[in-house]
Amino acid sequence: MQVLETIAQLRNWVAAKKEAAQTIGFVPTMGALHDGHLTLAKAAKAENDVAIMSVFVNPTQFGPHEDFDAYPRDLARDVALATSVGVDAVFAPSVAEMYPHDGGIRIHAGRQATILCGASRPGHFDGVLQVVSKLFHLVEPTKAYFGQKDAQQVAIIQTMVRDFNFPIELGIMPIVREEDGLAKSSRNMYLTEAERAQAPHIYAALQLARDVLQNTHDAAAAVSAARTHIEAHTSGRIDYIEVLSYPDLAAVDATTTDVLIAAAVYIGSTRLIDNIFVSNGGQ
Ligand code: PAJ
Repeated sequence: MQVLETIAQLRNWVAAKKEAAQTIGFVPTMGALHDGHLTLAKAAKAENDVAIMSVFVNPTQFGPHEDFDAYPRDLARDVALATSVGVDAVFAPSVAEMYPHDGGIRIHAGRQATILCGASRPGHFDGVLQVVSKLFHLVEPTKAYFGQKDAQQVAIIQTMVRDFNFPIELGIMPIVREEDGLAKSSRNMYLTEAERAQAPHIYAALQLARDVLQNTHDAAAAVSAARTHIEAHTSGRIDYIEVLSYPDLAAVDATTTDVLIAAAVYIGSTRLIDNIFVSNGGQ
């Protein structure tokens, strides 16, 4: 395992792999690794000659009052976990290494970023695309791995890869959950015991919405059932619950085949997101 902290070190590592004609699997993360991240890393290792993970809490995707400072950071733990699943290198740059210049070029994420998390986190997806495009240029991966947990992020990155012609395949992995259904997240560690007990109701509400959608084909009824469930079983505040077509993230209609039911709920002050896919289920 090599820990690379500078762009120069990363470029040397990448050049050696390219020289040896090795395929590179890449897993971008913000660290605080859990089984969700490790599933991506295992796939990257299994499907490529070498696997590299980035660990970088990207300031440009956090809003001014969000948790950039509080976000958990423990590089030694992350490196040990990445090593345990066979990752060959971790790229862990400083903010100054990634962003030495102010006021430069930004990428604008477009229509898919105006709704769901984009509506409550303005500029978030511009920041995600800024760091992901930079990392793609630096790592030059054969295949990059993302989790369906962040379905809107996946949809927007797919659009960037398509529109900017990145020669990179994307591997999308299913959501890894706790035994009680709560989607694994680095932010779950912010929850108090009482909040943690309520949090699985987000997934329960999404499952209920899926059942209602499959039975009634009525998106509004599905959303309403999920809202009622969350209001009855948690003291949380719903940011959004929506039924949309995937991956274009538009209103469902008779032609929609893949449906995304997505939710964001504040449990206490922690904002948790989760989603469920329904193939052909909306109609
Ligand atoms: P982060 O939240 O650390 O997540 C890194 C990757 O792990 C993302 O692709 C995310 O979807 C995936 N992931 C997180 N929880 C998961 C779970 N329970 N099951 C499956 N996959 C899961 O997403 C980011 O970082 C950043 O926005 C990043 C892409 C690194 C850009 O900064």
